Amino acid sequence: TPVLIVASEALPLAKTGGLGDMLSAFAPALQGAGVEPTILMPGYPGAMAQATGLKRVGTLSDLPGGDCVLWRGYMPDTGVRVLLLQNDALYDRPRLYQAADGREWDDNALRFGTLAAAAARIAQGVPGVKRPAIVHAHDWHAGLTPLYMKLLGVTDVKSVFTIHNLAFQGNYPLSLGAELGLPDWVLEAGPDAGGIEFYGQLSFMKAAIRFADAITTVSETYAREIMTPRFGHLMEGVLQENAHKVVGIINGIDGDVWDPRTDAMISRTYRPGEMRGKNACKRALQQLFGLPADPFAPLIALGSRLTWQKMADLAVHTLASLLDTYPRLQVVVLGQGEADAEQAMLRLAHAHPDRVAVHIGYDEKRAHMLHAGADMLLHGSRFEPCGLTPMYAMRYGTVPIASRVGGLADSIVDDGLDPRNVGMPPAHTPLTGFLFDGESVAAMRVACERAIDAFMRPVLWRMIQRNAMERDFSWDGPVARFADLFATLVGMEHVRLKP
Ligand code: ADP
Ligand code: GLC
Repeated sequence: TPVLIVASEALPLAKTGGLGDMLSAFAPALQGAGVEPTILMPGYPGAMAQATGLKRVGTLSDLPGGDCVLWRGYMPDTGVRVLLLQNDALYDRPRLYQAADGREWDDNALRFGTLAAAAARIAQGVPGVKRPAIVHAHDWHAGLTPLYMKLLGVTDVKSVFTIHNLAFQGNYPLSLGAELGLPDWVLEAGPDAGGIEFYGQLSFMKAAIRFADAITTVSETYAREIMTPRFGHLMEGVLQENAHKVVGIINGIDGDVWDPRTDAMISRTYRPGEMRGKNACKRALQQLFGLPADPFAPLIALGSRLTWQKMADLAVHTLASLLDTYPRLQVVVLGQGEADAEQAMLRLAHAHPDRVAVHIGYDEKRAHMLHAGADMLLHGSRFEPCGLTPMYAMRYGTVPIASRVGGLADSIVDDGLDPRNVGMPPAHTPLTGFLFDGESVAAMRVACERAIDAFMRPVLWRMIQRNAMERDFSWDGPVARFADLFATLVGMEHVRLKP
């Protein structure tokens, strides 16, 4: 089955977060399962420079953002086919979504509406490009794709939409509808309106949920959570109406990039049962961050976007109080995000110069060294669709302390074991990490205490590390489910859009 994957990021061509990781691992895994994926993404200059074997296919004219040149090539590492949509006025920017001051580019609706419109054209048929049987669009950037397909009357190609993060919806003034080439009925408000109006705006996310033939989210728990007001970001009503076509399929991780047995970015490789390399990695991490090379100090790392979603605010308070209680505790932070959170982390380091080190910035190598060298990863989340980072940590025998939400609840096993209450460590536990509920410093702190106490019992700790490292985070299971979903859709009867 030829599948056109439509997204704004895919590693190494472009990445701002987990979305880019997911696509660059997902597409080759699909290919391995006999599906024929082609990624369509914007021809950012960085993407044009890195894709291999680029050949010009032709021009797609009269897209909402003007004419675009379509290029065909391959992903540099995996050889997955890629189509790049080039229009420098739209896509040649220093950052993907926003200016250096953090403000969104003011033409983002047009930039990504154009990507979706191009995908719909390709679904309709473009000379020199194989027509897909399925178009699989990702996150709000590609959200208009299923709608444009229906508007073009493409009913023999099915659409799948994957929600990676419902917090980002692509909501814009209704007045942009004309520029995006949307007919009036699509923009109408009211209880019986069948379009994409959402609280007085037009919504890319709502368009996707309404018009896609099937919807997936990046974990099963998140698929349930988003039907509720707490996690629905106001979209819960729309999702409930479309609940029959929503399924949760957890992401896998790229087992070639994130593997302590082969990782070239870490000081020394290691594997379950042969963990001496991890001690060397801990020393290297302590050195890199200028902390004393103490092998017995419990080392908690935090590596993520420093944002409200990631509970950066709570983490600062929790870490401060833990540092008071545990005199040997060390903390390493790698992150970038909201200015307040960055400042608070830097103040914590300033207050404990020999125990806390903070690197503000985005750094792939440091991320690998952090997962390899830390004992624990603190990863609070107010919501977490999947959460790749704690999976990376587990693969490296770094034990996550995380919120019981979304993909974290699905990927981390916590049987409630509390080493603070047991005399002898149990002979067996399935535990791979420590989970906490809610959004309080107290709850986050208890989970950290449980983890630190477990760390102080070496036999128990090795058991937990082994559990974490041996858990299957591969794409095998998830990709089989996608292949089934695609097969079901291709076999489906054609449904016509009634305006
Ligand atoms: P999200 O996509 O919500 O940020 P994920 O955990 O799914 O969360 O994915 C985050 C990705 O971004 C991971 O690959 C993680 O290693 C990476 N990342 C986040 N912050 C940094 C940073 N400061 N330096 C390097 N990599 C980072
Ligand atoms: C989003 C989510 C994250 C998920 C990633 C990849 O960025 O915030 O939880 O892991 O997408 O699907």
